[in-house]
Amino acid sequence: MTEKILVIANWKMKLGLQESKDLAAVYKKLVKSEAEVIVCPTFVSLDAVGKVLAGSGIKLGAQDCFWEKSGAFTGEVSVSEIKETGAAFVIIGHSERRKYLNETDEIVHEKTKLAISAALTPIICVGETFDQRQQGAKDYVLINQTTKAVEGLEIEAGQQVIIAYEPVWVIGSGQAIEPQEAEAAHQVIRQSLFDLFSAETVKNNFRIVYGGSVDGQNVHTFTCLNNTSGVLVGGASLTINDFVAIIKNV
Ligand code: PGA
Repeated sequence: MTEKILVIANWKMKLGLQESKDLAAVYKKLVKSEAEVIVCPTFVSLDAVGKVLAGSGIKLGAQDCFWEKSGAFTGEVSVSEIKETGAAFVIIGHSERRKYLNETDEIVHEKTKLAISAALTPIICVGETFDQRQQGAKDYVLINQTTKAVEGLEIEAGQQVIIAYEPVWVIGSGQAIEPQEAEAAHQVIRQSLFDLFSAETVKNNFRIVYGGSVDGQNVHTFTCLNNTSGVLVGGASLTINDFVAIIKNV
């Protein structure tokens, strides 16, 4: 099966509501692609951006979710409310959340479990920090984070799970890693999945993407890798010219 290349736009907390709607409108006009494009705005903008994108083929994702279905959890957002907006994807465990919000592997696991139970596609972020890399712990971190996120989960036929390999130290740096390094990291991640699930499940239900300073110049060096299903884009998804360049070159 030839799958479409995934291009996930993570708008982070970089745009307001109106700016998000405006950028979504420009995406709708200019992002014409064979790729599977997913836009992840903030919670506040999710519904409105979904409405703007309706009919465009561009899909919607949230940047996070809570790990309980509902209840007295002030400030949190449930997977069912995310689904109501039309979003079909949710980023879980982004390194910025692991760093600033103290998200642990256990939290990432609980959120992933709930996202799957709601038939959302989780986009689980894993990746080593610069220090971990210097200490030679990269593979350990990837195996550990991947395993803890998905171990023991029931993955039904048709359920998709995306793992995003994002070396933390290159995010927002303007300098991506070498594609061969991403390829090796994806291999480590895939091997961890083989240890947990049947080969069939890994093949049919999991996709691995690369994230970290992807731009129009380098995107193809990642998307042409054998074991890479697409890219997760932060900075370059915020200006239409940069994003269109990515879409053109996937
Ligand atoms: P970047 O961000 O493309 O700006 O490096 C990627 C991400 O954090 O998802």
